[in-house]
Amino acid sequence: MIARPVAALFGLAVVLLAVFATVVAGPALAQTGGQVPGQSLGATSDAEFWRQVRQGTQGEVTLPNTSAGVLIQSEGDNWRAARNGPVSTYGAWTLLGAVIAVAAFFAVRGRIRIHEGPAGVTIERFKAIERFAHWLMAGSFVILAITGLNILYGRYVLKPVIGPDAFAAITLFGKYAHNYLSLAFMVGLLLAFVLWVVHNLPHRSDLVWMIKGGGILGSAHPPARKFNAGQKILFWLVMLGGVSISLSGISLMFPFETALFAKTFALLNVVGFDLPTNLSAMQEMQLSQLWHTIVAVFLIAVIIAHIYIGSLGMEGAFDAMGSGQVDVNWAREHHSLWVEEVEAQHAARRESPAE
Ligand code: HEM
Repeated sequence: MIARPVAALFGLAVVLLAVFATVVAGPALAQTGGQVPGQSLGATSDAEFWRQVRQGTQGEVTLPNTSAGVLIQSEGDNWRAARNGPVSTYGAWTLLGAVIAVAAFFAVRGRIRIHEGPAGVTIERFKAIERFAHWLMAGSFVILAITGLNILYGRYVLKPVIGPDAFAAITLFGKYAHNYLSLAFMVGLLLAFVLWVVHNLPHRSDLVWMIKGGGILGSAHPPARKFNAGQKILFWLVMLGGVSISLSGISLMFPFETALFAKTFALLNVVGFDLPTNLSAMQEMQLSQLWHTIVAVFLIAVIIAHIYIGSLGMEGAFDAMGSGQVDVNWAREHHSLWVEEVEAQHAARRESPAE
């Protein structure tokens, strides 16, 4: 009988204590006069403390992974804003611009015909190994481009059309294809470099070709060797862009392993730049992702023009990479110096046949 009022009083005391702790003592403990308990970041006030956290200050952790001591990595916000903002938007405009430019060129110039008409006699333009290198590089690039663009734009373009489940399945498959085919692209790139670099060194005739605008708008055909100046530019864009995209891709495939940008910036600093080299592991990944996307979009735009001119845009061009044999009139019109070289080689061989 006595126990009940005692228990009630005890309960009331507990509730009152809890209310007191919450209303009075709680804030008093959390904000001891604006001083941060522990001073773990050396901050002098609450505001200062949270400002430092927001700015990505490195706190102390006992884990081997020191990046766990960064509560908020503010560059992450900048990266996301850049990726989903200007990089995506300008990327889309660049690709659309390339398609419109090609369509406009087709509308103005039409298909570039063989001026003299096909001779019906062919000349070998690319050996099997050269075509293999081209198609290994080109085939893998096209799939890398499609799967990469899906990673960047798929959620806006494809997902609303096919639904989230199909989109997730396609994107997962595409991601594996993207990772593994990158190896095929790198092999193709290396092979194409070895086979074609000698033909892509600058030559006097390139200047004439450039001054005459490659004869692209008129009917003149400035002389060219195996590759004209326009093709040489494409070759070096593909090689430099391809290496750059491969390196940033490797950095993304093996996260936190390469310190690619810190190393690249250090190299650039040697030649007079003043770039930061103390990048965090997260910044490395963010820069790799942005760079990978920017170079990819640029290369895809260039390749859209290349695919057009190598197929629909120019009569007789595709055969070079199809059968490897091109019509001799096509060859004389577009690569007259190369035809002269090949004919001189054939003549020399005829004069001194192998024993
Ligand atoms: C997928 C469609 C493609 C087609 C139809 C195509 C067609 C061609 C043709 C016909 C040539 C020989 C031009 C000549 O005889 O002078 C060529 C050369 C070349 N292609 Fe492609 N190509 C394609 C994709 C690619 C891709 C994706 C790349 C690079 C990533 C590429 C890089 C090159 C390079 C570097 C050359 C040698 C330089 C030049 O001729 O411009 N191609 N291509």
